[in-house]
Amino acid sequence: MIQREVIIIFGRTGEGKSTLAKKIIARYNRVVVFDTLHEYHGTVFSDFDSFVDYFQHPDSDFFLVCRFPSPVSFSYAARLLFETQEDILIVLEEADNYLNSVSFNDAYDPFFQIVTRGRHAKISILAITQRPTLIAITLRAMSTRVITFCQTEPGDLDRMEDWGFDPEEVRNLEKFKYLEKTKGGIHDSNDKASPSQHETPKKDILL
Ligand SMILES: Nc1ncnc2c1ncn2[C@@H]1O[C@H](COP(=O)(O)OP(=O)(O)O)[C@@H](O)[C@H]1O
Ligand SMILES: [Mg+2]
Repeated sequence: MIQREVIIIFGRTGEGKSTLAKKIIARYNRVVVFDTLHEYHGTVFSDFDSFVDYFQHPDSDFFLVCRFPSPVSFSYAARLLFETQEDILIVLEEADNYLNSVSFNDAYDPFFQIVTRGRHAKISILAITQRPTLIAITLRAMSTRVITFCQTEPGDLDRMEDWGFDPEEVRNLEKFKYLEKTKGGIHDSNDKASPSQHETPKKDILL
């Protein structure tokens, strides 16, 4: 069984965020993607009602792709998952839609609940965004793994500093390379594919 994780991936478009996300997702048997960009393959749901129906008799393993027309449907879906499911990974593309500073103060927001209380149900989150300035910084304390690809906008780099990264290093990352911070320290993508907490951290910046 995989430990419960809250993973955040930052980076400009085209740097390899979704490709890395797909590698991470492959370790999970029960996945729900909020696929606003229509990039994932799986059992596609175009409306919330059919998603509800599915969970009357869900398979034991699944890869569900939600492409709802309205943002509020994603909120309903998050609430349904939080209230009824265990041991799942929820993938949020354009995660700034769901985990921004406004919603992230609201104890009734289902995404807030999943991040702060999802540990009990082993509900993991993989959040992906190009726009670090819009993601609630308070998430930092709850994240188990933070990954950044190259970023160049001054505002975004300042924000990456808030997340514990060296802005110069983030700015100078080559295409498809990333820096990764886990509870064990900071790593880059030249390290072994999946740095474990047992490796010696390159820097002792802890979450
Ligand atoms: N490590 C990699 N090596 C080579 N090509 C890659 C790598 N990661 C991503 N790509 C390619 O780069 C393009 C953009 O990747 P993608 O993951 O969609 O980026 P993003 O989600 O950050 O916009 C895709 O065509 C993808 O196949
Ligand atoms: Mg992408």
